[in-house]
Amino acid sequence: MNLQAAPVLYKSTRQNPNEWQTDLPHLKAIREYYEQAGPDYGAWSSQFNMHFGYWRAGINPFKLESMLEEMNQQIGQRLQLETNAPLQIADLGCGLGASARSMARQHPNGKVYGLTISPWQVQQGRKLNLPEGLNDRVKLMVGDYTIMPFADGSLDGCYAIESACYAPGNDKAPLIQEAERVLKPGAKLVVADGFFKHDKPQSNIMKRMYRRLSECWVVRDFALLPAFRKALIDAGFTNITIEEVGYRVAPSVMHVPATVVKFLANYIWKERTLKMNRHRRNNFIGPILGILAGLDRRRFGYHIITATKAGEPKFMM
Ligand SMILES: C[S@@+](CC[C@H](N)C(=O)[O-])C[C@H]1O[C@@H](n2cnc3c(N)ncnc32)[C@H](O)[C@@H]1O
Repeated sequence: MNLQAAPVLYKSTRQNPNEWQTDLPHLKAIREYYEQAGPDYGAWSSQFNMHFGYWRAGINPFKLESMLEEMNQQIGQRLQLETNAPLQIADLGCGLGASARSMARQHPNGKVYGLTISPWQVQQGRKLNLPEGLNDRVKLMVGDYTIMPFADGSLDGCYAIESACYAPGNDKAPLIQEAERVLKPGAKLVVADGFFKHDKPQSNIMKRMYRRLSECWVVRDFALLPAFRKALIDAGFTNITIEEVGYRVAPSVMHVPATVVKFLANYIWKERTLKMNRHRRNNFIGPILGILAGLDRRRFGYHIITATKAGEPKFMM
């Protein structure tokens, strides 16, 4: 049986956990974006999956929600965890907890800790946990994934779906180092996100497009694949697998235009105006620019990266 069954939460010695740095200016901007545009994600996913989907043979590409859930399943598979073990997993940047709920269903004896910097998301996510009675096993919390409230070497796995992009720098080192600290030896970190493949110069028009995209999604620095890989190695991760899965994600991206049109029609019908606040406007411009980034395949791509914390897994009979 796996060793870990004890609680992993602890009071950080490095920082008073009640003083989460969610008031730092860049975190404040991200939080403001998610609080203003957050409800609009309901137009994308009834379950509030705030990410793109994953298509594989057997899944109907016209069923967006199935592909969104499949992304959760794919991440779960890459964590390579025993189905029925009493695991402790962390969702780093959990949104309203859709992936955390999926992970809890995948591991009926496991506990999933979801971290987000948005108190609104925690509140709404806990409501979404209720129908399945998941609040005991899906613990959604306000917190910063670069200073996590977990003890060293206490987690069986952690993952970040379209949230690692918000970590500082293009190598995302603060997130990677913190994940390495909290994982048990042999446990995995899985990251799904858009990455630049290199930092070679680009045309002015593309520079402007990416600048606008980063404004829309409040991403300060997009991740750069070689820098991210180096940060994983420097932090002590091994068995690093980098999969470019743009073609798996593309069928869900195809749903963006119809979702935007549906959203706008509803909005105009309800509000009788096209005026809306900056974050809500950006929230539907962002995915459209995301399609352009997706077409810029030599430079940008959607990747799933899996890395293992060095060391031998510990087992207890
Ligand atoms: C695009 S949403 C993805 C949500 C979720 N992973 C999903 O796929 O449904 C990005 C999430 O990252 C979170 N986030 C951004 N910076 C963070 C940080 N420093 N610590 C924890 N969460 C963060 C946001 O609050 C938001 O919940």
